Amino acid sequence: TTDPVKLMKQEVGKAAASKVKSGMIVGLGTGSTTAYAIEYIGDRLKSGEIENIVGIPTSFQAEVLARQYGIPLTTLDVIDHMDLAIDGADEVDPNKNLIKGGGAAHTREKIVDSLADQFIVVVDSGKLVDRLGSTFLLPVEAMPMAITTVMKALEKLGGKPQLRMGVKKAGPVITDQGNMVIDVKFDSIDNPADLEKTINNIPGVLENGLFVGVADLILVGEVKDGQPSVR
Ligand code: A5P
Repeated sequence: TTDPVKLMKQEVGKAAASKVKSGMIVGLGTGSTTAYAIEYIGDRLKSGEIENIVGIPTSFQAEVLARQYGIPLTTLDVIDHMDLAIDGADEVDPNKNLIKGGGAAHTREKIVDSLADQFIVVVDSGKLVDRLGSTFLLPVEAMPMAITTVMKALEKLGGKPQLRMGVKKAGPVITDQGNMVIDVKFDSIDNPADLEKTINNIPGVLENGLFVGVADLILVGEVKDGQPSVR
């Protein structure tokens, strides 16, 4: 491929996969960037470079990819720690805070990513922002019976909420847990930590896409003169 975004995603996915060591329990994130990491972890297992890896998927997508690339899976119920989680993001600010949930998977992602000893974020350079919410709407997962009241509460907080609709589906997007997603435009998110807590306190909200103080390392894919690199 010569598509620069794809090159960045591939390169950064590979860089994250190379951090996986034999015997590790690894959280497997969701999205097109993490998909490359999952593929490369599978390649390293196949070649015998690493062994005894167990994955914890953050979505059906991650589960399907892990199976496809030969990574054994387990659940949170039977592990006592997680060494590493690798996941993408939709926006990353200078304090390593994130907006996630572009793939509607942020609820399971937050559970898994926040449990890992080390959470590595994989993004292309286009995801870096000075302030969260400047380019991406904030995803909020809510129970179907509460979407109207949750949207009203989000408006009271100064947001402009919209129900996420399916692309190749009639009607709203349904998450892996059977809920719906409300995408919210905020003019500026001044205090992500406060907003994260305030939104999660609305009855009927499962989880929002603000990840504050969760990420340990941000790997950024870049392309210069057609040459991909990671910083
Ligand atoms: C899934 O809900 C999101 O949090 C993804 O991690 C995010 O959308 C990144 O996806 P891409 O790597 O495809 O941009």
